[in-house]
Amino acid sequence: MNIEYLKIIVYAISTLLFVFGLKMLGKTHLARRGNMLSSLGMLLAILVTLIGNGFDYKWIAGGMIVGTLAGVLVARLIVMTRMPEMVALLNGFGGISSLLLGWAVYVETPALDTFTAATVFLSVLIGGITFTGSLMAWGKLGEFISGKPFLFSGQMFINGIFLGVPLVAGLLFVLHPDSGTLYFYIIIVAALLLGITSVLPIGGADMPVVISLMNSYSGLAAAAAGFAVNNILLIVAGSLVGASGIILTNIMCKSMNRTLINVLFSGFGAAPGGGEGEGEIEGTVKPINADDAYLILESASSVVIVPGYGLAVAQAQHAVRELGDVLEENGAEVRYAIHPVAGRMPGHMNVLLAEASVPYDQLYEMDAINPVMESVDVAIVIGANDVVNPAARENESSPIYGMPIINVDKAKTVFVLKRSMAAGFAGIQNSLFYKENTRMLFGDAKESVQNLVGAFKD
Ligand code: TAP
Repeated sequence: MNIEYLKIIVYAISTLLFVFGLKMLGKTHLARRGNMLSSLGMLLAILVTLIGNGFDYKWIAGGMIVGTLAGVLVARLIVMTRMPEMVALLNGFGGISSLLLGWAVYVETPALDTFTAATVFLSVLIGGITFTGSLMAWGKLGEFISGKPFLFSGQMFINGIFLGVPLVAGLLFVLHPDSGTLYFYIIIVAALLLGITSVLPIGGADMPVVISLMNSYSGLAAAAAGFAVNNILLIVAGSLVGASGIILTNIMCKSMNRTLINVLFSGFGAAPGGGEGEGEIEGTVKPINADDAYLILESASSVVIVPGYGLAVAQAQHAVRELGDVLEENGAEVRYAIHPVAGRMPGHMNVLLAEASVPYDQLYEMDAINPVMESVDVAIVIGANDVVNPAARENESSPIYGMPIINVDKAKTVFVLKRSMAAGFAGIQNSLFYKENTRMLFGDAKESVQNLVGAFKD
C-alpha cells in the first residue's frame, strides 16, 4: 500500500482513539482505559510518521527509549498529591517541543513562505510562553518559588511591552522571513520572558487554573507546529488539547465563581481574602463529640460524605473509606459527593478516594447529589468549607455569592469535621456552621473519623 494512504488511515484511527479516550476521561471508572486508548493512538501515530522518511533511526530509537524510561519512572515515583506539578512540567515540555520544532523548520527551510513563517512564529511564541510559564507554575506548586503573588507597580505596562515586542517582531518576521533572523531570536527571548512575568504575579493557590490554561497553550503551540511541518495529526491532537484545556479552565473558574481575568490579574490565591461585606451570621455553633455523633449515625439510613481540602491535609482518605464500610455494614446507604473544585486541583478528591479504593459507583457529582439532599439523614463534611458554604446561595454580599455548592445544609443533620472555626481558601465565614441542623466535630479530620469508626466497633 502507498505509504501516504497508510498514514492517512492510521491518523484517522489515532484521531478516533484520542476523541474516545478524552470522552472516557470524564468518567472516573473509565478514565484509566481512556488514557490507555489515547496513548495507543499516539503510539500508532508516531510509528506511522516514522515510516519511510529516511530518518536516522538510531537517534529516534535512543530518544524513545530514554523518554519512555523517564516517563515510566516519573509516573511510578510521583505521589498523587504532587500530580499537578508533574502535569505542569509535562505542559512545559510540550511547549518547548513546539518551540524547537518551529525553530528547526525556520533553520531547515531555505525560503519560508508567509503562511509557514506565521505558523513558525506562533509555535515559537506560544511554545516559549508555555515553557517558562509552566516552569513557574511547577516552582510555585513545589514551593521552590514563593507562592505569593509577585506584584510591582508598572507590571501591566512591562507585560504589555513583553507582549508587544514579539508581536511587532513577529509581524516583521512573517513579512520578511528571509531577512528576519534578528526578529526571530527577539521573539524567542520575549516569549520566554513573557511566560515568567505573566505567571509570577499569580498566587500559588491559583496555579491549578494556570496549569490548565498552560495545557491549553501547549495544545495551541502544537497545532501551530503541526501547520509548520504540515502534519495533520499534530494539528488535530494540538487542537484537542487546546480545546479541552480551555474548557477545563472555564469549568474551574465557574466553579470558583471567578473570571479568568480575575485569576490572571488580581494577585488572588496567595492567602485567604478579607471576607469583607459578608455581614453578621445568625445562629450558634453547636459542637458535638464522636460518641454523640455515633448515636445519630447509628440510626441513619442514608449518609453523604463530602470531602474537601482538609481531607487531603489530614490524609484521612483510608479512615474515611473505613467509616463508609462500617456505615454500610450498619445498613446505611453511603454516597460521596464531589465538588468540582474541592481541594486544590481538578479531581483532587477523586484521586484521594481512588487511592483508598472507594467504589466508583458511590461517587456522585454535585449536580447529581443536590436534588436528593433533602432526603439524606446525615451529611458528613470532612475538611470542606467553601464548597458547602450556603452564603453562595443566600448572601448576595458574599464574595462567593453565585458559586455552585453542595447543599449539605438541606440534609436532616450535618456534621462538620474540622479543627477550628477558621476560614477556607476564600477566607470567608461559613453560615453552615451556625445552622440549626449543624453539629461541629472539632479536631484533625483523620482522628475524628477514626474516633467515629472506633465508636462503631466498640
Ligand atoms: P477550603 O474551603 O479551602 O477549606 C478547607 C478546610 O479544611 C479549612 O477550613 C480547614 O479548617 C480544614 N482543614 C485543614 N486541615 C484540616 C485537618 N487536618 N483536619 C480537618 N480539617 C482541616 O476547602 P474546600 O471546601 O475543599 O474548597 C476548595 C477551595 O479551594 C475553594 O474555595 C476553591 O475555589 C479553591 N480552589 C480550588 C482549586 C481546585 S482546582 N480544586 C484550585 C484553586 C483553588 P481548619 O483549619 O479549621 O481545620
